[in-house]
Amino acid sequence: MATLLQRVLRIAPYFAKGRLGIVVAGLAALVSASTEPALPALLKPLLDKGFVAGAVPLWMVPVAIIGLLALRGTAGFIAQYALTWSANEGVQALRMRLFEHLLRAEPALFGKHSASSLTNMLVYEVQGASSQLVSSVLTLIRDSLTLVALLAYLLYLNWQLTLVIGLLFPAIALVMRTAGRRLQRLAREGQLATDELAYVVEENVLAWRIVRLHGAGPSQARRFERYSIALRRLLLKTVTAASAMTPVTQILAGCAISTVIVIALWQSAQGGQTVGGFVAYITAMLMTLPPIRHLADVMAPIVRGVTALERSVDLIEEGANERGGPHLADRATGMIEFDHVSLRYGDERVNALDDFSLTINRGETVALVGPSGAGKSSLAHLLPRFLEPSAGEVRLDGVALRDWNIDALRRQFALVSQDVVLFDDSVAANVALGAEVDRERVRAALGGANLLEHVDSMPQGIDSAIGHNGNELSGGQRQRLAIARAIYKDAPILILDEATSALDSESERAVQSALDTLMRDRTTLVIAHRLSTIEHADRVVAIEAGRLVEQGTHAQLLAAGGLYARLHALQFRSPQPVQGDSP
Ligand SMILES: Nc1ncnc2c1ncn2[C@@H]1O[C@H](COP(=O)(O)OP(=O)(O)OP(=O)(O)O)[C@@H](O)[C@H]1O
Ligand SMILES: [Mg+2]
Repeated sequence: MATLLQRVLRIAPYFAKGRLGIVVAGLAALVSASTEPALPALLKPLLDKGFVAGAVPLWMVPVAIIGLLALRGTAGFIAQYALTWSANEGVQALRMRLFEHLLRAEPALFGKHSASSLTNMLVYEVQGASSQLVSSVLTLIRDSLTLVALLAYLLYLNWQLTLVIGLLFPAIALVMRTAGRRLQRLAREGQLATDELAYVVEENVLAWRIVRLHGAGPSQARRFERYSIALRRLLLKTVTAASAMTPVTQILAGCAISTVIVIALWQSAQGGQTVGGFVAYITAMLMTLPPIRHLADVMAPIVRGVTALERSVDLIEEGANERGGPHLADRATGMIEFDHVSLRYGDERVNALDDFSLTINRGETVALVGPSGAGKSSLAHLLPRFLEPSAGEVRLDGVALRDWNIDALRRQFALVSQDVVLFDDSVAANVALGAEVDRERVRAALGGANLLEHVDSMPQGIDSAIGHNGNELSGGQRQRLAIARAIYKDAPILILDEATSALDSESERAVQSALDTLMRDRTTLVIAHRLSTIEHADRVVAIEAGRLVEQGTHAQLLAAGGLYARLHALQFRSPQPVQGDSP
């Protein structure tokens, strides 16, 4: 296991921008700490000479005390401010790094982490950990400097005695190390438990309708309670581990102090010790107690903070960024080849796609049909490289997808997928997503998707906000907005995955004509369960359990009487009386 120092050094580069603040804070803490022995040092002349009339001018007393406190207060303020400043510089930089990582990381990242755990990490943990670290590091710096200053003064007063106190430190270090290990483990477990708790909240917020409809509230509450109790238990364990250190260190300190007092009294009995000297020594020594106690307490928050920041650094360093190749093209001609492609998800036992080969010519419209779970969406997701084939190769314009520059590759596709995703922004921003908003083109795209009429009836037209994930729109309106987005993108290849499934027949017909115009001169992959929408495709490809079963035109496949004919017959069973069925 890496030591705390190694772990801190690993995090440090992310906080490099705040270096100046740390230096200033260190200097200020040094000033503040060096004023610490001044108080007992003042006691010595005061006790030895102050009671002799005229030896100490009275005005010097308030000047010395007030001046000392003012200096110490100012230095303390500067240290606190400088450290907070640099920590927040660090938080800002780290957060941006994390978010940029989310935007560029390999898609596998989203399978490994839930949305709420990433939210927790980026929004809360980074901030919380840093402020915890700031206050504890400040304590650490200030109190250890104070301790050093006081010890230096004690050595100066009486070095033999001070060596006795020195014996205390290895013992304290041992206690802190043991407890530190346990604290680190607890901190990690605590983060995971927090993630789980947040995930339950996320699910229940998203699915509140289903939860209420099924009366699943009590079982969800029990689930929440279970994680919540686990979290509470971990917190209690943490506090126990952290505060068990305090009495142990204090007892150790007590041993040292009593030894010192005994020796000091014995020494003064031998003569050679003034009362002032003795009082100054004891005062300075008692003053070492609070910093020692603080140092014992500082371990827990530091370990917790470092562990949390480490998790963020892990996230940045664990997953590689998406890597593309050198091939750049403005606009692909649109020939797609699947060459013996197999795909297996994680540790599933069967292939989602199995030795799948298909060539789609430029400008061709290919309809993909097959039962649910056949692998149609998976096939579509291979194209923009949301998934990587486990065997075989996919090529666009004869160039393997791997060799395409990743941004250039993704410019080639417009995708209307099964699950429409909208952003909490205006209609126009959603249509133009990622590109400049050209208001005329936005209106044209909305018109093509048969949505302009509705948008014009909204309070601010195309500038109207549509709520979280478009919750102010109906299912069909959301789908038409996604279609408008695809029209606006004007990419050479169009992927429609159940793009019109949420529309009624009338608006489907209206949208279909817009899609037909859009498909012209574009390579198009249409996935649809409603076979009526695919009859006009140039070619129909039937797929079952990840394998290509048959292909041909609608008429050919109907005549062949295979999978497609079967699916078709099932769908039209009621309106089309089967021959020979009449009484
Ligand atoms: N992220 C995933 N992890 C593991 N298995 C997955 C994942 N996504 C899909 N699968 C599996 O891969 C297979 C193909 O899924 P896919 O979504 O491609 O089917 P589909 O043909 O689009 O079905 P539908 O018509 O219902 O949309 C399914 O058996 C599914 O269980
Ligand atoms: Mg699908």
